[in-house]
Amino acid sequence: MARIELVDLAHAYKPNPSAPGDYALRPMTMQWEDGGAYALLGPSGCGKTTLLNIISGLVRPSHGRVLFDGKDVTDLQPEARNIAQVFQFPVIYDTMTVFDNLAFPLRNRGWKTAEVNRRVQQVAEMLELSADLKHRASGLSADAKQKISLGRGLVRPDVAAVLFDEPLTVIDPHLKWLLRRKLKEIHHELKLSLIYVTHDQVEALTFADKVVVMTQGEVVQAGSAQELFEEPAHTFVGYFIGNPGMNLLPCTVADGVAHLDGGSIPLTERARVALQGENGKITLGIRPEFVECEFSQQADTSPATVTSVRNLGTHCLAEFSLGVHTIAAKLRQLSAAAGDKVWLRLPGERTLFYVNDKRVA
Ligand SMILES: Nc1ncnc2c1ncn2[C@@H]1O[C@H](COP(=O)(O)OP(=O)(O)OP(=O)(O)O)[C@@H](O)[C@H]1O
Ligand SMILES: [Mg+2]
Repeated sequence: MARIELVDLAHAYKPNPSAPGDYALRPMTMQWEDGGAYALLGPSGCGKTTLLNIISGLVRPSHGRVLFDGKDVTDLQPEARNIAQVFQFPVIYDTMTVFDNLAFPLRNRGWKTAEVNRRVQQVAEMLELSADLKHRASGLSADAKQKISLGRGLVRPDVAAVLFDEPLTVIDPHLKWLLRRKLKEIHHELKLSLIYVTHDQVEALTFADKVVVMTQGEVVQAGSAQELFEEPAHTFVGYFIGNPGMNLLPCTVADGVAHLDGGSIPLTERARVALQGENGKITLGIRPEFVECEFSQQADTSPATVTSVRNLGTHCLAEFSLGVHTIAAKLRQLSAAAGDKVWLRLPGERTLFYVNDKRVA
């Protein structure tokens, strides 16, 4: 296992002199701790595969360095980096048995037969492939083939890291759920450093100790599920994580008060200090879970109109209009219908502020 550092890393596939900012990865410096279970989360095209391939050595970065345990590996070929990579579609030898497929990476490195047997049995058991070990891979289902690919990624205990690039895409939804839990167990058991790429927030949040969120070639936050939920560092994280995502409302600030169209909210001391003299684009962010609804005017409430209510059994999902803004709220219950007048409270301690999309308070 290794600690992986990216130092002033950036990547442009085709350096473009007329658009020098045309990066698949924008400049970043970050660390992946030894033994960590990371998810790399972001929408299609944000640069997840590019970043993974730069770590494994399949792509050489156009700028910056990659270090494993302090050693510069930027110019090393993938074979010399000691990384296991599992791709979206199965990469296996169809004519070999399941056993031989799993044993291949170990035999390749001169492992003794008894050790190969022990390790292959262990990994096969974890992935529930033991009954298939003697079968040829060609006769197996797509799901089983992808399990073999996962097994080939996990079989070597001495790799610097195992990289997964959306490995469960081709898998049936129920098995997908089981395998995700399994990968988490395997991580605890084998203590491998794992980086798991996905564009699915549920997959990322259930698998990883730390989720690295990317958008448009930039890492905008790396944090636990709780940090991403409670303290999104960037408006994109607020919007992308959560269902529905964070309410993001453009506002202006004056005399200790945030002014929205149709309402105003007193600032906490922390927000007042952080926003003092600020003249960038200010956005107020509040999660739907923290919006409060009253049926009469009370302290710190603003008048709003109900536009929709959906009762989902465990909670209610409601939408309100406040001036030009639409505000979503997740409430325990709400006895109201579209058109009703209500008063909304956005509690100061749950309200975050962003300047040019980056959190300041
Ligand atoms: N070989 C390549 N040559 C040129 N541009 C590329 C190449 N591979 C990727 N790109 C571009 O780099 C950007 C990042 O692509 P990348 O494949 O890393 O995204 P991704 O997050 O993995 O997306 P997805 O979720 O669809 O797999 C995209 O704009 C893509 O078009
Ligand atoms: Mg990709």
